[in-house]
Amino acid sequence: MKRLYLTVLLCLACGGASFAQTNAGTLVLRADNIEEILQALTLEEKVSLLVGGAGMTPDVPNVAGYTRTIPRLGIPMTALSDGPAGLRIDPKREGTDQTFYCTGFPTSTLMASSWDVDLMEAMTAAMGNEVLEYGVDVLLAPSMNLHRNPLCGRNFEYYSEDPLLSGKMAAAYVRGIQTNGVGTSVKHYAVNNQEINRLENDARVGNRALRELYLKNFEIAIKEGKPWTVMSSYNKLNGDYTQQSERLLTTVLRDEWGFDGIVMTDWGCKENTVKSTKAGNDLMEWGNQIEIDRILEGVKRGEISQEELDRNVRNLLKYIVKTPHFRHYKYSNKPDLKAHAAVARKAAEESIVLLKNDKDALPLKGKESVALYGLPSVDFVGIGTGSGWVNTEHIANLQEAMTAAGFTLDEDLAEYYRRYLDTQVMTEKMEGRRIDKRHRTEPTIAVRAIERQAEANDVAVFVLGRIAGEGADRVVPDDFELSAIERELLQNISLNYHKLGKKVVVVLNVVGAIETASWKHLADAIVLPWAPGQEGAYAVADILTGKVNPSGKLPMTFPVNYMDIPSSQHFPYTWDMTQGRRGNRKNVDFTDYDEGIWVGYRFFQTNDVAVSYPFGYGLSYTTFAYTKPVVKAGKDGITASIIVTNTGNRTGREVVELYVAAPQGGLEKPARELKAFAKTKPLAPGESETLTFQVSTYDLASFNEAAAAWETAAGTYQVQFGASVADIRATASCKIKAQSWPVKAIW
Ligand code: BGC
Repeated sequence: MKRLYLTVLLCLACGGASFAQTNAGTLVLRADNIEEILQALTLEEKVSLLVGGAGMTPDVPNVAGYTRTIPRLGIPMTALSDGPAGLRIDPKREGTDQTFYCTGFPTSTLMASSWDVDLMEAMTAAMGNEVLEYGVDVLLAPSMNLHRNPLCGRNFEYYSEDPLLSGKMAAAYVRGIQTNGVGTSVKHYAVNNQEINRLENDARVGNRALRELYLKNFEIAIKEGKPWTVMSSYNKLNGDYTQQSERLLTTVLRDEWGFDGIVMTDWGCKENTVKSTKAGNDLMEWGNQIEIDRILEGVKRGEISQEELDRNVRNLLKYIVKTPHFRHYKYSNKPDLKAHAAVARKAAEESIVLLKNDKDALPLKGKESVALYGLPSVDFVGIGTGSGWVNTEHIANLQEAMTAAGFTLDEDLAEYYRRYLDTQVMTEKMEGRRIDKRHRTEPTIAVRAIERQAEANDVAVFVLGRIAGEGADRVVPDDFELSAIERELLQNISLNYHKLGKKVVVVLNVVGAIETASWKHLADAIVLPWAPGQEGAYAVADILTGKVNPSGKLPMTFPVNYMDIPSSQHFPYTWDMTQGRRGNRKNVDFTDYDEGIWVGYRFFQTNDVAVSYPFGYGLSYTTFAYTKPVVKAGKDGITASIIVTNTGNRTGREVVELYVAAPQGGLEKPARELKAFAKTKPLAPGESETLTFQVSTYDLASFNEAAAAWETAAGTYQVQFGASVADIRATASCKIKAQSWPVKAIW
């Protein structure tokens, strides 16, 4: 580590000093002389470009990584930093009082709940401005692995259980960031769906599930977003590390999908650097002299050909000439954080999901006295942990946001939670532990106190929180399921408030799906803001008062029981009743994706298995009618439209999900699959909008492993317009001719 640090400093010191002195008249990198530069680079210089560093750059301290400079040829360093909910850099620097905070935007799962690609693009346009103005060249995001199982600790960084929703959201994310002239890194490619043993786990997936689910979202993001870079994952896929898989990185990514950027490793390279280089993993991150020597040796021994070496270096150079550092962009270190906070708040408002609203319990008037329960009401989960974290100046909590919205909080109760949190933080400090929400447990409240609070207040709001992040998966007891304390508290709140005819609202401030079936009857309303970023608490308050009409919908299924999910049989940290409370660590070295394509709603809908809340579900304070479905099929696919009318009495937006049910005769198919979606503009009561959808014939195809091809079967396709996967409001059908598309790689 020390050796690496010295190497890095030396390299940067000499790089930094002489870069500025690049002589006029000598050969320097330009966008149009890459081949010439390739000729001029020495072998050592070429290899140094393929091995990135970590941690320190001369101008942006503590970014996640950088590419190396070659001053004599005018090749600058470029800086790479996380992550999905906003730029992650150190907020303080030695020698200056200036701060370098970034905006904590809503996490990806909440953004996917918006089903609004324009919103996503607008939000990431603001996020990308911070990347640019803080001197960073590439944001290491979007993270976009599928929600195969709710326990994956990084699900909040990811979008959905569905590849189309995930792919469209990621593509929009990429476009928004890259409008700033900075890059993105679509990650973690691929099949990185769990954190347990994430560095070594072998994901064993059949070709069909791989193509239709785990690669499909990446395919959409690459083709429609055109990211500058892709990050290979740590894990293996069917026996090969993804960073060493030529099939994945070259045949599929570049030859099939047309990707023309650089591939970098996730942070930590595998031993066989020669294999990674040959496979088409251009940049080793973070690497050091060990990787440099391995590549040098590989070239000298002829294991890496000159063409392979030059191919990767050419990719690097093509990337470098696009970057702000290459353009000598004078970044300000002063992005408009105030304006971006407003963007973050708006994004959260448009994405929050209303799961339950019995007898129009919500909206409240905004003037009520509220007993606000739950430690997360003050210890709010804005973002998850790990590289998905953002150093924001402040994360608003619900106590402050609800007060700002006009509610009067039960001050004794609010003070109780503040003190409890202070004590927990103090204990963590005294014991020398990391200040970490993950270890904080919900305090109990005596029944007598709840009785008093129920009498004194108009309504109870109970905030349930969950935190997770990189490096660990969640567990079922006390995490996917409620803890005994939470359950008892909710029961007591429900009993005592309902006895007096007062409402109980639950706010789910969670980083992944949780169990709701056993307790949802205890609440009148349930609001799901996920981890909504630094301003998200304000957005929750605006939903509670009705200032904002909720329009988010679930990007995944909420099952009744954890074990109802097919992948739970194979998820490494399976909760097994026979194994005791800590669960059962199975499939750690490898994970069998035996459920194949039967992930999420594809399984639940097809097999008619009851769920707590279906995929695509979300309520509004108004109602919508779907009329006049029109579906036309042509040579290129389906064009569909539907008229959506606001039939209620509040302005609101509606997400319409277009599902397709395929004819019999081709491969076995799920009952229906999401093929397109659209969201109305805000519709006033009585107002209508026609939404249109395009589905290409290729989008209808399933993957036939035996034929190594995508195939669209001939026949009559049902086109279904849904308010959720389980609530189809209109249907039309059309005839499609058979078509197939062979692929170049099969596992
Ligand atoms: C994470 C990546 C992240 C990288 C750099 C890794 O541990 O898996 O998502 O971009 O670190 O911080």
